[in-house]
Amino acid sequence: MSRPLESVAHAHRLAKRRLPGSVYSFIEGGNEARITVRANVEAFEEIGFRPRVSSTQSAPDPRTTVLGREIAMPLITTPAGFIRIANPAGELAVARAAARAGIPTGVSILASTAIEEITAVNPDTWFQLYMIGGREGTAAAIERARQAGVRVLIVTVDLAAGTGGSDTRKAAMPPGRVNLASAVRHSPEMVTHPRWALSFLRGGLELTAPNVPGVDGRSMTIAEGSAALREHPPTWDDIAFIRGLWDGPLVVKGIVTGDDARRAADLGVDAVSVSNHGGNGLDGAPATIRALPEVVAAVGDRIEVLMDGGVRRGGDVVKAVSLGARAVLIGRPYIWALAAGGEQGVDEMLALFRKGISGTMALLDRRSVSELDASALILRR
Ligand SMILES: Cc1cc2nc3c(=O)[nH]c(=O)nc-3n(C[C@H](O)[C@H](O)[C@H](O)COP(=O)(O)O)c2cc1C
Repeated sequence: MSRPLESVAHAHRLAKRRLPGSVYSFIEGGNEARITVRANVEAFEEIGFRPRVSSTQSAPDPRTTVLGREIAMPLITTPAGFIRIANPAGELAVARAAARAGIPTGVSILASTAIEEITAVNPDTWFQLYMIGGREGTAAAIERARQAGVRVLIVTVDLAAGTGGSDTRKAAMPPGRVNLASAVRHSPEMVTHPRWALSFLRGGLELTAPNVPGVDGRSMTIAEGSAALREHPPTWDDIAFIRGLWDGPLVVKGIVTGDDARRAADLGVDAVSVSNHGGNGLDGAPATIRALPEVVAAVGDRIEVLMDGGVRRGGDVVKAVSLGARAVLIGRPYIWALAAGGEQGVDEMLALFRKGISGTMALLDRRSVSELDASALILRR
């Protein structure tokens, strides 16, 4: 990479330039009119800060504790399938960069890297389940996660049905396997994106799903896995079933209301993540930073509350933490960084977040994360 990443927007621009259009659109994602994708980002802009002149010259300390473990800042790389399509370095690069930054890494069951390889490089690995293969497949996946040394299990509850994708971005599903048909389909994009094409043709972008139980003696492709996840949408009974199998920290991801958060807490989960799947699920679902206060009010005294969706700078992390989030998960920012600069790009992105969080805390005169609350914000409604 030529020069270091300057911002999430910079990584986004580079990713747009370097990735073939269909791959770029796939990562942009969104459903129907993409209202929720936009709302996630715009809602952060409606929240302002109340600056406070420094009372000390000591530097802010962004460390915090999440689900029983201290982390270097309130940030986690979210589980995302398909990311090797952006760069063959994929999940392993993200997990290593997160470990260097002292933060957990989330890994999707639809990742293209075996979970054992991830836990070997990041001791704080959070593994995310869809119920592929029903309860039997899920029990096997949980046992494998336990053996691999996964620390936190996430169950995503908001994407087991689809409404058909976005009106404007008919993103081609990335090819599962490299073969003549997929090469021909992508050939126009290969001419214009030779670097991506080279990785693709070498098989480095092949999207298999090694963490999903196989079919007919071979591992599923991610495309097959994402079709299979829709066969068993998780219910509350399934959450109770998973709770019974996993005694480590359990997170339910994809909650945007106080009612659902209370039900999750009643089942004994340790945290909920306020999430609308980055706008890839129900279009019209509320922006997550707007939904966060309702969830915190409902369960914040019983379990930890995380959030993800639309976080694009350190200041956004500070806003979410000030509204009661323990930590936030980021998705597209690190995927764009991966596309723009591989593992080094992800290192740079996480450093930018760290700098943004500390810089914002300094201008609010908050020296530790525990000092952040709504008094740091100006809420315009
Ligand atoms: C390309 C892509 C793949 C994703 N795959 C998964 C997945 O496999 N499991 C999951 O729980 N969430 C998945 N998500 C959703 C993210 O975990 C997260 O909720 C979302 O990206 C956060 O919004 P942000 O991208 O605005 O930061 C994916 C998101 C993207 C962009």
